[in-house]
Amino acid sequence: MKITWLSHSAFLIEGSERILIDPFLSNNPLAPVKPEDVECDLICVTHGHGDHLGDAIPIGKRLGVPVVAIYELAQYISGRGAEAVGMNFGGTLKREKSSITMVPAVHSSGITETGFKVDGGLPGGFVIAMDGHTIYHAGDTALFSDMKLIGELHKPEVAMLPIGDLYTMNPYTASIAAEWLGAKTIIPMHYNTWPPIKQDPGDLRRMLEGKADVKALRPGEPLVLD
Ligand code: NI
Ligand code: MN
Repeated sequence: MKITWLSHSAFLIEGSERILIDPFLSNNPLAPVKPEDVECDLICVTHGHGDHLGDAIPIGKRLGVPVVAIYELAQYISGRGAEAVGMNFGGTLKREKSSITMVPAVHSSGITETGFKVDGGLPGGFVIAMDGHTIYHAGDTALFSDMKLIGELHKPEVAMLPIGDLYTMNPYTASIAAEWLGAKTIIPMHYNTWPPIKQDPGDLRRMLEGKADVKALRPGEPLVLD
């Protein structure tokens, strides 16, 4: 399985299926690909903020693939003409070659339309199981103690955790999350896209020394799992 960081919170996970998460590519100064060049079988969106919903709707329409999101956000997406699958916390979408469980996040989820805001439902994260690997994408979140439960229930091998601070966890709180999750590989995300979320992923690496392997990827760089 191959996990490619497309910068910010966007990832492409390629195994038996190709799953695109939070494809914020247009107007993202670090995006290594254009939305029109991405290929996938399914798109997962953690919440309604523009840096996560991103280009999900146009990519979903172009490829004719479903966008998975919490029920309210899925309704918004289908109202904009893309195929959407609504789900909610604790539920699992079982597909032929993967399964996707939605878990909570502690954050907000308004959708910005021109001149007004739309309720995007609650913000979440995803636990994706495919080809014998389990991956947790935390979305945007504060540290919350139910991450221990996510660790206990799903035993993720890899966790993508936000470290940018201001809107989410920082390297210190992400290091606590990593320990609670028990994941052996941590991919930091949601940092350095803009100056307000500037962070050194080396801080997280130092805090997790001997406990977990921190893979600070470059935008476009893949991580291959055996
Ligand atoms: Ni957000
Ligand atoms: Mn965000």
